[in-house]
Amino acid sequence: ETISKGNHAHFMRKEIFEQPLVVAQTLQSYVRAFEGEVAIPAADFDLSKVDRVTMVACGTSFYAGMVGKYWIERFARVPVDIDVASEFRYRDPVLEEGGLALFISQSGETADTLAALRHAREQGQKIAVVVNVPTSSMAREADLLLPTRAGPEIGVASTKAFTCQLAVLAALAVNLARARGRLTAEQEREIVAHLAEAPEAMAKAIDHDEQIKAMAPLVAPARDVLYLGRGPDYPMALEGALKLKEISYIHAEGYAAGEMKHGPIALIDDNVPVIVIAPSGPLFDKTVSNMQEVRARGGKIILISDADGLAQAGEGCLATIEMPAVHELIAPLVYAVPVQLLAYHVAVLKGTDVDQPRNLAKSVTVE
Ligand code: AGP
Repeated sequence: ETISKGNHAHFMRKEIFEQPLVVAQTLQSYVRAFEGEVAIPAADFDLSKVDRVTMVACGTSFYAGMVGKYWIERFARVPVDIDVASEFRYRDPVLEEGGLALFISQSGETADTLAALRHAREQGQKIAVVVNVPTSSMAREADLLLPTRAGPEIGVASTKAFTCQLAVLAALAVNLARARGRLTAEQEREIVAHLAEAPEAMAKAIDHDEQIKAMAPLVAPARDVLYLGRGPDYPMALEGALKLKEISYIHAEGYAAGEMKHGPIALIDDNVPVIVIAPSGPLFDKTVSNMQEVRARGGKIILISDADGLAQAGEGCLATIEMPAVHELIAPLVYAVPVQLLAYHVAVLKGTDVDQPRNLAKSVTVE
């Protein structure tokens, strides 16, 4: 069956717009909304005995894993090591017999990730896989298969597979937390209610498409762009920068907001747009104070936050994008949307081949 772009100019745009639907679909496989419970498929090993997780992935899937690490450590109090797949084997990681190794991949065929999976199996690890292509090599080699239900992703720049990976990782974090006795039924019900709100909040984020399109001329002429975030929004900054690099060919870097002062702030002048991802929450004030340091040096800020955050810190920014107010758990799913849309519109304005950017392949099957 051929997949069409429908009424979208590019597959990437179509896939960004599909996210509320496919994230809802993915969540349905892991969340019993009525009972307020998360239920991942049964594994042939005991989740309550998992006391360390090793995560491995590449590119956007790696950034999903970084967000997942934050959630698993926070909710389940299980330590997570995470590596890019191309480094994993070569650092000869210490893997204790019977540990859980988790591989994240849209395609399930990425050569580095697949080689890392086989290495982990040789080292006696249980293999869990978060994967979008159910017939892929990684899906076949998993002890615990955690599918994302994003449907075929055609655009080389990953969008809907990423947010579906986040949905699965959130469910896994909650399940692990329950198995380890870290969550009461009441707390789990609350988390499930927040997860269930994600698709609608993502749809509200997509409503900003036209506004973000109008902002593209602020970013398109730049030679360098910085993205800043803290906590789970730090990997979102990395992901935002990767999206922009891939499809617009503008040099972009993501930084943990607090790292700016340790070097990158030297880059700031009024030609460098700085995109700050800062939902309201416990880390907001700290991120804003890093943002003010940038502003004091002439940096031009695009702040992505909710109404409260923008009321507090939006003044004096070059532009702002208002996201719905959401629980901090689902913020990465929602804030993924504006960073994807911004990269998309900048690339369209620059006239690049959005769905097939130069030098890139959808699935990288060489090491
Ligand atoms: C993301 O936009 C990329 N094109 C790329 O980084 C991708 O996420 C990476 O190659 C991993 O692919 P996978 O998820 O299919 O393993």
